Amino acid sequence: MRIAVLGSGRIGTAVVKSLISCGYSDIVATGRRDETLSNAKSLGAHVTRDNDLAVKSSDVIFVTVKPYHFPALAKQVNRSSWVGKIIVSFMAGVRINTIKLIVGNSHVYRAMPNMNALVGLSSTAVAVDQEYDSKGLVEKLLKCMGRVYWVPEELLDAWTALAGSGPAFIAEIVDALVMSGVLVGLPRDLACDAVLDVLEGTARFLRNNDIHPAILRDEVTTPAGTTIRGLITMESEGVKAALMKTIEASYKRSMEIGREIDDNVRRELGL
Ligand SMILES: NC(=O)c1ccc[n+]([C@@H]2O[C@H](COP(=O)([O-])OP(=O)(O)OC[C@H]3O[C@@H](n4cnc5c(N)ncnc54)[C@H](OP(=O)(O)O)[C@@H]3O)[C@@H](O)[C@H]2O)c1
Repeated sequence: MRIAVLGSGRIGTAVVKSLISCGYSDIVATGRRDETLSNAKSLGAHVTRDNDLAVKSSDVIFVTVKPYHFPALAKQVNRSSWVGKIIVSFMAGVRINTIKLIVGNSHVYRAMPNMNALVGLSSTAVAVDQEYDSKGLVEKLLKCMGRVYWVPEELLDAWTALAGSGPAFIAEIVDALVMSGVLVGLPRDLACDAVLDVLEGTARFLRNNDIHPAILRDEVTTPAGTTIRGLITMESEGVKAALMKTIEASYKRSMEIGREIDDNVRRELGL
């Protein structure tokens, strides 16, 4: 089985790496710049600038270009080359129906992983518009990157905000906490270890015990102690509301991108 990765950028590289570490060796990656191609080659992929050739010669095609690259990429591939292929799109916001305007009745999966795929810990949601016999294979390939969750397509914009963009938001929070550690006197490296340990430990505790986060918070909070002083500050500074608004803004942008790309594709195709 040959797998194509169209657009071997940041997430495309993560796909190539994880598929290779899972034992898939026949992978062809595409890109425009020399650097993109040589990077994919160094990981063990075949490389080409010819997207049509990559699609035609492959069974499964990961589309990992930016959403706004998609109309141009679609023009570079003959419509007939997509026929009978399994297509897995990672493009934020771009709907299955929009992709089907280009690829017709091929099996189209819309998935949203995150950069944690680089360490085998992506949280990938995937949607499909009908039951195809290729579903098991797609799940197996996506599992090379981490956990896989099947969801209805309507949930993918929300997932994109929370889990696709999630590593960036968590990184900002980690950065803020590390700076806080420095503010109260910890050396930076030690503060960083503390924050990452707490993050990992809290995540594992919540997952293993399957409890609501509020229960953990209450267990840590001693009356008139240090934690409640911190919590009242979080409340008064609106930390929860700020995070909720962050995800909502990102979610709205994902839907907006979907509409923009759909309009562009229809304009390009004269529909
Ligand atoms: N980054 C993330 O954390 C993340 C997470 C989940 C999903 N995604 C989704 O993954 C997609 C890619 O994101 P990214 O961050 O990986 O972007 P990126 O690093 O910019 O990668 C996109 C790649 O597409 C290549 N490309 C563009 N047009 C092409 C064409 N016509 N033919 C061949 N290659 C082409 C570019 O190649 P050149 O550099 O050679 O021009 C670039 O390497 C987006 O749709 C995004 O929504 C990203």
